[in-house]
Formats: sequence, structure tokens, C-alpha cells
Amino acid sequence: MQLKSLNLKTADVETLVVPVCEDAELHADPVLGALAATAKALPEFCGKAGEAVTLFAPEGVRVRRAMFLGLGPLAAIDREALRRFAGTAVQKCIGCHLDEALIAVPAAARLKCAVADLLTALLEGAFLANHRFDRYKAEKKETPLAQVTLLVRAQAAREHRDLPERVAAVCGGTLLAREWVSMPANDKRPQQFVRILAERARAENLDVTVLDEKALRQEKFGALLAVGGGSDSKPALVLIDYNPRGALRSLALVGKGVTFDAGGLNLKPTGSIEEMKIDMAGAAAVAATMIVLARLKPKLRVVAALPVVENMISGSAYRPGDVVTSYAGKTVEIGNTDAEGRLILIDAMAYVVKKYQPDTLIDLATLTGACVVALGEGMAGVFSPDDDLAERIVRAGRVTHERCWKMPLPDDYKDLLKSDIADLRSLGTTRWGGAISAALFLSEFVGATRWAHIDIAGPVYRKKEDAYCGAGGTGFGVRLLWELIEKF
Ligand code: BES
Ligand code: MN
Ligand code: ZN
Repeated sequence: MQLKSLNLKTADVETLVVPVCEDAELHADPVLGALAATAKALPEFCGKAGEAVTLFAPEGVRVRRAMFLGLGPLAAIDREALRRFAGTAVQKCIGCHLDEALIAVPAAARLKCAVADLLTALLEGAFLANHRFDRYKAEKKETPLAQVTLLVRAQAAREHRDLPERVAAVCGGTLLAREWVSMPANDKRPQQFVRILAERARAENLDVTVLDEKALRQEKFGALLAVGGGSDSKPALVLIDYNPRGALRSLALVGKGVTFDAGGLNLKPTGSIEEMKIDMAGAAAVAATMIVLARLKPKLRVVAALPVVENMISGSAYRPGDVVTSYAGKTVEIGNTDAEGRLILIDAMAYVVKKYQPDTLIDLATLTGACVVALGEGMAGVFSPDDDLAERIVRAGRVTHERCWKMPLPDDYKDLLKSDIADLRSLGTTRWGGAISAALFLSEFVGATRWAHIDIAGPVYRKKEDAYCGAGGTGFGVRLLWELIEKF
């Protein structure tokens, strides 16, 4: 990706994509304005959202193909509309078997937004759309574009020279997380997934430690080991440390890494089990974020803890009614072996709190179907006793369009987690409010550390492709965490 300034009357352009607004002129450049007017003079195109028309060799410019895409009314053009526009532009060009595209950037003043925000949104949409998950197809039907260029004024190209690379680093993290989530569970059994994560992180010169099954036993990760017991691919805890010189504050990120969630002895039924390869999306988002950090080097220490297990059935699987001793020392009565995420998280969280004493701890987990019932597949639930932290996460999500909605943590609901025989039960005694009781369960293991839990069960996966995301893993969380960390 690059920013470029050029003269359309003299430069030789193969494909130019021009955004067109329904009720306003988006372009300050008269040449682009004239092109948009030509398109709008056609009866089949008026700039409504979703409309598209292509002119070949339009008059007055040296452009072989000019593709016009409607953005709808001016008032509806926000960052997300710009991402979607750029994503659609790239998808259409890929569909036409082109290998590059030049996208005309609207005038920032007409959209009343900062040039950097405008360019960032367009670069994000273009980069994220330029990806196909086709590693399991013999025939690769579509090839991503080799180059996407944004057509800007000379001053903008100079001032924002570094932007394409930064956006590519962050969105590259999103694509990595998408790939990992989309990968089938038979290719990411715990031992394989741990190796994939460790190798990727080490390649970025991050400090990686893997606590294997033996180490987990020695250090008494009772809850994590219980969940991992049913699989013959053994569990592990992957620790990734980004520790730049001069960092004054620290953040810990914990990501749920269940490579497949069969439910254990409380086996999931047909209809719920098929997509459970996505249950490591929290770990994927956190690991990919660490790679983004290694590239963009913010001045903040960040440690990631990724408990990786497979929740399976076998003679050595844990049972409902079992009592396990967690890393923190508290005993937990297992209510249902399908509530495995919270068990692996509490051991990772307690370990991180004890070992690193981070200022802030955030966990990302595909934790509950209840959260998806509450919020649908388009947004995540945020749970935190700290309103400021929750609000910052919600705000970051508004910027990146990885939407987050603040959920409550009512203290008195903790009564639902009382056990007759152990310190706690792993799930509430009622099926209502399952996302809340899961979050309350986690809250028992963070001590006094400032903490937020993000339940991402809904938005990490999509069945149908969208403007800048194919079907499969969405990479939800990576841009969100980067936005949060950058402004920390
Ligand atoms: N991994 C699931 C949650 C999930 C559901 C993720 C749907 C993505 C889509 C989690 O481990 C789980 O099974 N949760 C149970 C908890 C219940 C047994 C208390 C659930 O939500 O039904
Ligand atoms: Mn489960
Ligand atoms: Zn799960």
C-alpha cells in the first residue's frame, strides 16, 4: 500500500476507483469532480450506497478503467463507511482479476474529518479486504491485489508517508488472527498451536516461555490441567513478554485458547459443536497483538498469557462434580465440563497477577453463548469493576468498529457461585445471566488488579463475507487492543 499524488491527465492509470456521494461533491480536485459528475449523469448511478458503475477510457484523463462506487448521503459517511468503501473497491478489483488499484481519496474537509483518520480508514478497509483464506483449496480462484495506492494531494502524501506501513502492521495482525481462527482444529491441536504461536512470536524477537504439561503440574495449575486432561494433545501456557526499555506501566493480556471445544463429558450437541474450532480466538487476538507491538514498539510493557487446551472426551477427561484446586489455591466445583474457558482463564490470570503484578489485566475470551444471546454476533461484552477502563475499551471499539458494549457485574449475583463443598462453583445455579456469572467467576481471581473481561464469543467469526472480511475468523480484538494500547 502507498500514498501517491499524480496527474490523471498525464499519468497512465489502469484502474481508478472513485467514491461518489449521493447528495454532495466529495472531491475538491476538479478532474475527479468532473469524472464523478459523468458517472452521476448516468441513469443507473446516483451515488446511493451499494451502487457501482464502471466507465472504460473516460474522457479527459489517461485512465483505462474508472470504477465509481456509491457511498450514500454525506451524513452517513463515517470511518466505517470509508473502510467498507475501500474494502468493496478491493474486492471488486480482485473479482475482475486486476492486480492493482488506485483509489481516489475524498477531500477531508468535505467529510469534516482529520486527514489521518480518513487515510487510516481507507487503508484499513483496503488491506483487510485484500486477503483470501484459501490454503485448503487446490485451485486458488482469486488472487489478492499486488498493490493498492491511495490518490492524494502531494502534501498529504508527504505528511502521512509512514501511515501505510503502520496500518499494514496492525491489520496484518488482524489477518494473522483470522487465519488462526479459520484454521481447522485438526491442524491446531494444542501442541501444534503452541508451536505456531511460539515460533511466530520468536520470529519477532519477542521473549517467549512455554510452560508445558510437566511445568504446569509442578506449579499446580489444577484448573487448566483438568480441562486439558481429556485430550491426548497436552495443554500448555504460552507467555509472551514485550518489555521495551523505559516502560513505566504494564499491561497483561490473557486470551482463551481452546483449540476445540467439544464440551467434554457435557458434550455439545449437533448444531453447537461444529464451529468450536473458533474457541481459541481470544488467544489468537492476543498473540497477534503482541506481534503488532513488536513491530510498532509502543513504550509500555505488555505480557501475554495464553492457556492452550483442547476440551475433549476420554477416560482421563474431567467430570461434572469434580473439585479441582486452581493455581490461586481456591477450590472449584465443576458444574459443567462445557464451562471450560473460565477454568483455564483463572489459572492464567492468577499466574500473571502473581508473577508480573501488572497495572492492568484484560482478558479476551469466547466465553459464553449467553453473551451472544444478549448482544448478537456483531459486538462483544465488556465487564469491568473499573468504569474508566470499560469506557476506554468501548471507545476504542467505536473507533475500530469492533463494537463493545458494557455489561454489569452486580455483586449480589456472586451468591449464585456458592458451592456446598468447594470454595466456588464454576457456574451459576441458574441458566439466566450466564455471561455475567462467568465474568463474576473470573473476578474472584484477579485480586486488586485493575481488570476487564471482554466476551468475544459473538464477533470472532462470521458465516458470510462482508465488505472487508471474508467468511470465517474476523480477527476481532487485534485492532481494538492496538487502539487501546496506543492511547494507554
Ligand atoms: N466456547 C463456548 C462459548 C461459545 C458459544 C463460543 C458459542 C462461541 C459461540 C463455552 O466454552 C461454552 O461452552 N459455554 C457454555 C457455558 C455453559 C455450560 C455454562 C455456554 O455458553 O453454553
Ligand atoms: Mn465450552
Ligand atoms: Zn469454550
